[in-house]
Amino acid sequence: MVTPYIIVEQSQPLKGQVSLNGAKNAVLVIIASLILTRGKSVLHNVPKSDDVLHMISLLKSLGASVFFFEEEHILQVDTTQLSSWNVNAEVMKKMRASILVMGPLLARFGKADIAAPGGCVIGSRPIDFHLKNFKKMGATVFENGDYLSAVTTGLRAGRYVLEYPSVGATENILMSAVLTPGQTYIVNAALEPEVMDLIDVLRKMGANIQVLAPATLCISGVSQLQSVEHTIIPDRLEAGSLLIAAAITKGEIEITNAIAEHMDVFLLKLEEMGHSIRLNANGQGIYLKASQNPRAVSFKTSPYPGFPTDLQAPMMAAQCIAEGISVIEETVFENRLVHVRELQKMGAQIKQEGTKAIVTGVEHLYGAQVIATDIRASCSLVLAGLCAKGTTRMTGIHHWTRGYDHLEKKLGFLGGNITIVNQEMPLSLTVNELGRENIL
Ligand code: EPZ
Repeated sequence: MVTPYIIVEQSQPLKGQVSLNGAKNAVLVIIASLILTRGKSVLHNVPKSDDVLHMISLLKSLGASVFFFEEEHILQVDTTQLSSWNVNAEVMKKMRASILVMGPLLARFGKADIAAPGGCVIGSRPIDFHLKNFKKMGATVFENGDYLSAVTTGLRAGRYVLEYPSVGATENILMSAVLTPGQTYIVNAALEPEVMDLIDVLRKMGANIQVLAPATLCISGVSQLQSVEHTIIPDRLEAGSLLIAAAITKGEIEITNAIAEHMDVFLLKLEEMGHSIRLNANGQGIYLKASQNPRAVSFKTSPYPGFPTDLQAPMMAAQCIAEGISVIEETVFENRLVHVRELQKMGAQIKQEGTKAIVTGVEHLYGAQVIATDIRASCSLVLAGLCAKGTTRMTGIHHWTRGYDHLEKKLGFLGGNITIVNQEMPLSLTVNELGRENIL
């Protein structure tokens, strides 16, 4: 079997203007939310990433009819004939976000037969917050190994407290509550922009949702929801990746539809590095001119509006060649520093202490053979490859294609030397191709 890989060459400063695709972490849950309606919905600005294709095949397996006009980024979903609540284990295993159909299935059918989504390299990814609260809402959950079967004669409204503002648990409980008679409160809810986009869609369907301080959702259940037309918000994580690509190559780019208020802390850290950021008048659109001598900054990931965990790995790449020392602490996932080892192969000076990485900036990184271990690690390594001397070859690109809609094409348009090669990577790479002997 051919193992495709990405080749990244040291690139000139990235320059130009690009726009963003729809947010992966919004579109996946919004597609799942369509299970709550009976009718034909239309979603715009839908990215063509593998995870989206997986969610489409999941909905089709339940009986929905789905048409994806990929070039136009338009998804048509008709859930009138959706009749199954049993999710194929193979489909569940392909993508963690599949767990997000559990709440809608319980709300629509009173049943949900799924497989536990399983963990991944960044952590065990438990779903205890989801299951604990579904049980409190009146669902009975039978766990048989990897298989979960939930059933209810009717979910109960009430006050449900999350011990941690979990994005997925907030979304799952919210989607089960919108059709539950009475008032349901979700306390300590996640309020990421992607969660707010889901709330926007549910309100368009006819749901009654209030967002109260501090971080509480109040849902008044309704009897039915209508099909919907909606445009997915721009992907703040793609925006962050593009801005770091310009910063790390000392270039300058404009992202025409980025929503700056979705990424305040991240932009603050870019400015602290010495990069200049300008926002368009209406807050839509970000222009970055890179500093020629960026300073290292420290940061700690936390739930929104803190520094997003999904930009931790990409931002670490920028610290590797910045002046000074950066202390990066990952607090959201227990094992989301796996990319450190791969960056070290490229010459990065990083010391890992538990969930902290201490990065000492170096003059140059060097091309190497590296392995992507999760979506955001794949981005970090591509960004590092854009500024590294020589050639970087990255395998594990299924992570890249899962999370991004041809981001390599956008980077190429801006001047990045990056290509996806669908053939076996040559086993022995000459020293000069790697920029230096791969001695690690
Ligand atoms: C969503 O994952 C995103 N995925 C993740 O993006 C993102 O990193 C994460 O939120 C945090 O912002 C999608 O939206 C599809 P969590 P989710 O529940 O919902 C623990 C990417 O690269 N936890 O907020 O799974 C969990 O282990 C992906 O695009 C429990 O302990 O994240 C983690 O440590 C990666 N029990 C923390 O909470 C539970 O029942 C945050 O997880 C649920 C979560």
